[in-house]
Amino acid sequence: MARKGKCHKCHKPKNAHTVTRRARLEGGHNVGVHTADTERHGDHGGRRNIELATGVQHSRCGSERHSHRYPLPITRHRFCGIFSPVAFVAFSRVAFSRRDPAITVTIDDIAFGGDGVGRWQHEVTFVPFTIEGETVQATVVERRRRFQRAALVRVLKPSPHRADPPCPYFGRCGGCAYQHMAYPHQLEVKRAQVAQALRRIGQFREVEVAPAVPSPQPFGYRNRITVHAEDGKLGFYELRSHTLLDIVRCPLASEAVNAKLAELRRRGLPPGAHRTLREGAGTTFEQVNDGVARLLLEYVGRHLCGDSLVDAYCGSGFFAHAFAPRLRMVAGIEWSEPAVASARRNACANETYHLGDVAALLGEVLRATKPDSLLLDPPAEGLGPEVIEQTLAQPPARIVYVSCNPATLARDLSRLAPGYRLLEVQPFDMFPQTAEVEAAAVLGKR
Ligand SMILES: C[S@@+](CC[C@H](N)C(=O)[O-])C[C@H]1O[C@@H](n2cnc3c(N)ncnc32)[C@H](O)[C@@H]1O
Repeated sequence: MARKGKCHKCHKPKNAHTVTRRARLEGGHNVGVHTADTERHGDHGGRRNIELATGVQHSRCGSERHSHRYPLPITRHRFCGIFSPVAFVAFSRVAFSRRDPAITVTIDDIAFGGDGVGRWQHEVTFVPFTIEGETVQATVVERRRRFQRAALVRVLKPSPHRADPPCPYFGRCGGCAYQHMAYPHQLEVKRAQVAQALRRIGQFREVEVAPAVPSPQPFGYRNRITVHAEDGKLGFYELRSHTLLDIVRCPLASEAVNAKLAELRRRGLPPGAHRTLREGAGTTFEQVNDGVARLLLEYVGRHLCGDSLVDAYCGSGFFAHAFAPRLRMVAGIEWSEPAVASARRNACANETYHLGDVAALLGEVLRATKPDSLLLDPPAEGLGPEVIEQTLAQPPARIVYVSCNPATLARDLSRLAPGYRLLEVQPFDMFPQTAEVEAAAVLGKR
């Protein structure tokens, strides 16, 4: 289709470009993408989605005209709902070859997910199994419009925090990201990631994030693992792959769980099947690392106030059961039937459990019980807008928010900010050697 005028970005005649109607993204709108000079315009396109969300001008051209030029959808991250270029770049893969020559990259930071990140010729480059401050040689394995991924070839300048990974599967197995990093540094990386999320996403400029509470056992801490069977193999999937890795022993699992793995390997598992091997007999959500779960429990207990508690996303009552003996009233909300059944079986007289969606029930439970404290322990997606709204409408004096995703934690804390002051944030290393980050935040009513 012939189009008149000049492109507002490069001032070439618009007909020099092809504007394609690209894939239908979330929100149901089509996206117009300039296909001529794709690098430049692709960059604008991806960035434009973020600008719409944040109101920040484009860093290169400074223009805000993008934001009303096309009625673009705002691309949201699947887990956290935070505005993200991720879905946008999914449409912009560029062919690559594994024979590409090695590049040299200096790693500046560790990204969420655990990959080291640096720049090669201005291009953002993710290199797994590296540490900030290192200079490494790597080969590009995937190119996207706004970043590339590279595989580590060799470390040219190692970090003082580099350690020998004890696991023979490390680097191929998708489970661990940090065995090449000394444990104290893993803790610092996780603390810094929580602080960065609070600053960048939550706009909390002043809050101090305490050093992460270490796991009493940096290895052998997992009280359960899930293994899969395929093609005569039994184990975990390789990193970013559907290829199964045959695992004889997992150093993150406890001795009891590894003994169950050895027994399962003797008996065998039908192809396509998976099996969760646990120390106990549970079938509902349970904390994976008992040592850190105990420390988290003590922390939450210290920060509750008054004598009544609503425990939202209570699972089978891990927190509620522990606090009930010292409180007048505890009410739990959870949508998993087996979890609620288990919570009710083990409840004291002052514990009540409500089966259903927190988004539907929280307001009613807060109105009926008027608790002094609210405990929020949602899944990685964090809190929906209804949960925030109902909390702000019936605000308990204290909130303790336990999170396994710093990005959604930061987003939700900023949404709660009209009614609550952020008092402190404490990371817990529930999952050593992996890139998972757990943190608790304490909020006081304004
Ligand atoms: C991170 S786990 C926390 C469980 C519990 N606090 C514990 O420590 O054992 C999140 C729990 O929230 C439940 N859940 C997730 N979304 C929910 C929702 N919208 N309404 C109610 N429960 C939900 C899950 O079934 C799971 O048990």
